[in-house]
Amino acid sequence: MKGSDVVIEGVSKSFGDFKALNNVSLKIKKGEFFSLLGPSGCGKTTLLRIIAGFEYPDYGAVTFDEADVLHVPPDRRQANTVFQNYALFPHLSVFENVAFSMRIKKASRKEVESKVNEYLHLVQLEGHAHKKPNQLSGGQKQRVAIARALINEPRVLLLDEPLSALDAKLRQHMLIELDQIHDKIGITFIYVTHDQQDALSVSDRLAVMNQGDVLQTGSPHEIYESPATEFVARFIGETNLFDGRVLKAEKLVLPPASAGEDGLTEYMAELDIPELGRIKVTTVDEIKPGQTAVFTVRPEKIVITKEKPATKREDINLFQGIVDEPIYSGFQTKFYVRVMEKNLIRVIKQHANYSDEGPDIRWKDSVFLSWSANDGYIVGVKE
Ligand SMILES: Nc1ncnc2c1ncn2[C@@H]1O[C@H](COP(=O)(O)OP(=O)(O)OP(=O)(O)O)[C@@H](O)[C@H]1O
Ligand SMILES: [Mg+2]
Repeated sequence: MKGSDVVIEGVSKSFGDFKALNNVSLKIKKGEFFSLLGPSGCGKTTLLRIIAGFEYPDYGAVTFDEADVLHVPPDRRQANTVFQNYALFPHLSVFENVAFSMRIKKASRKEVESKVNEYLHLVQLEGHAHKKPNQLSGGQKQRVAIARALINEPRVLLLDEPLSALDAKLRQHMLIELDQIHDKIGITFIYVTHDQQDALSVSDRLAVMNQGDVLQTGSPHEIYESPATEFVARFIGETNLFDGRVLKAEKLVLPPASAGEDGLTEYMAELDIPELGRIKVTTVDEIKPGQTAVFTVRPEKIVITKEKPATKREDINLFQGIVDEPIYSGFQTKFYVRVMEKNLIRVIKQHANYSDEGPDIRWKDSVFLSWSANDGYIVGVKE
């Protein structure tokens, strides 16, 4: 691998009285495609600028492959940045934009020629070398910026919302290309975005940030399937959230996956949710009767049927409701279902094929909602 491990330890940064980063620690692995995801103003760009060396933290350490880089100037860190606004030189051709840093280093004409062509090929811009930036589309400008950042053969590529100026389709396309470029060159990519779909689809791992804090780090699957906090559950995808009082919490020790390992400890909890009734949920964190827990279940985990499900499984939660509003969007329908006459639950039904479609579910239909104890999560405890 040509990339670097990037380790951020206890980094804090304030601007005047405002704390932009609050004791942030992250371990990004060599060659990883790692995303920093969070709402506007949460400190993503500030953290990226600290990694790049354009900003200096008040506290904390940043190392590349275990070597301190805080005292290394940006141009010597081997970390190059692709900015949201491209920052191309308008008067230079595509070729000269990409060649710029090699010219400064006084590389030979032959070397410049072969390297620039190699990187223009990587970003699929052969044939555009003579054009000026204003003769290019948004996606093409972005590719020039990527080629210009990569030609120095950095160990880390930092990308600050590089696709946000592009329309949705082109964005998707560029994201796939970025992923392919990452696979080809194998260096560490740190990608800043506030778009959860982008971050989930392209990252090996990601960190979810809010108000200067890292709330959770994990694979897209971990972040989506087991959000650590209420904020993460709300920010990533769509979800149903309720507060519920813990009635029971039974400790279960599951058999180990293979010999020699410890069994997993889990709690089978029963909550009383005022808007819903009693529900069962499994959780790995200790939970006690009397506590108030924040419960979440994703809309696509809930099964919606007109008939009462035949299952006798004890871990299934079952509720009745009335369809308030179905929203059809081709591949799926989203339903808002009214439970106990007032509370709306979101449910998403994917349209698959004839065998599991069942009768159409319409506005004002009486329906059953069901999900298993394993499909819900507790994302916080309020004492
Ligand atoms: N140089 C500065 N001086 C004062 N405040 C700053 C400075 N740079 C950033 N901030 C503040 O720090 C906070 C974090 O900014 P940052 O640019 O890191 O957010 P971000 O997560 O990148 O947001 P966005 O998604 O909008 O780009 C913001 O409230 C911002 O106003
Ligand atoms: Mg930013």
